[in-house]
Amino acid sequence: MATLSPISSLLLLLLLLLSSGSPTLASGFATALDPSLMGINLGKEKLSHFRFYWHDVQSGPHPSSVTVVPPPSNSSATFFGLINMIDNPLTLRPDPGSELVGRAQGLYSSASQEEVGLLMIMNFAFVAGKYNGSGITVLGRNPVLQKVREMPVISGCGLFRFARGYAQATTHTFDRKTGDAVVEYNVYVLHY
Ligand SMILES: *[C@@H]1O[C@H](CO)[C@@H](O)[C@H](O)[C@H]1NC(C)=O
Ligand SMILES: *[C@@H]1O[C@H](CO)[C@@H](O)[C@H](O)[C@H]1NC(C)=O
Repeated sequence: MATLSPISSLLLLLLLLLSSGSPTLASGFATALDPSLMGINLGKEKLSHFRFYWHDVQSGPHPSSVTVVPPPSNSSATFFGLINMIDNPLTLRPDPGSELVGRAQGLYSSASQEEVGLLMIMNFAFVAGKYNGSGITVLGRNPVLQKVREMPVISGCGLFRFARGYAQATTHTFDRKTGDAVVEYNVYVLHY
C-alpha cells in the first residue's frame, strides 16, 4: 500500500466522514419536507373556539358512559381507582336532542385521593360540517367540583393536524341520583 502523508490521511478521513452521513439509517427513512408542499403555511396559524355540550349518560337502557373498573370497595370517598369508558354525544346546546356535532370517545379515571379529580383521555370526533372526520385529543386533569376545569388539547387529526390548545369544562347539570351529567366545553385550538 502506498504511504500517505499525515495531512493526506486526515483529508481522506474528513472526506469519508462527510460523505457517509449516518451509516446506521437506511436512506428514505427520514426526509426534511417543505411544509407548504403539504398545504401547511407556518405563518398562518388560526385560533378557533368551539363550544358544545358533553353528555355523560350513565342511566337508562343505552348509557354512553359505563364503569369498566369499579373503585375498590374500601377506596376513599373520591372513588379513587374508578375507570369509565365513554362514547358521549357532543351537542350544540344543553338539550340532548339538539344537533349532534361529535362524540367524545375515551375514558376517565378517578386519579385523586384528596378530591374528586379525574384523569380525562378523550378524542373529540367531530361530525359537523367541514369538521366531519376531523378530531382533537384532550388529555388532562378534571377536578369536577371546581367551577371551571382546564385540560390541554394535545393534538388532532384531519383539519387539526399539529393542533394545540386547551379545553375548559363547566358543569351545566348533574343528577346526583343517576350520575348523569351535562358539561359545557369551550375549546380553544391553534391549527393550520
Ligand atoms: C383495602 O383493603 C385491602 C385488603 O384488605 C388493604 O390491603 C388496603 O390497605 C385497604 N385500603 C384502604 C385504603 O383502606
Ligand atoms: C360525515 O362523514 C361520513 C363519512 O364520510 C358520512 O357518512 C356522514 O354522512 C357525514 N356526516 C355529516 C353530518 O355530514
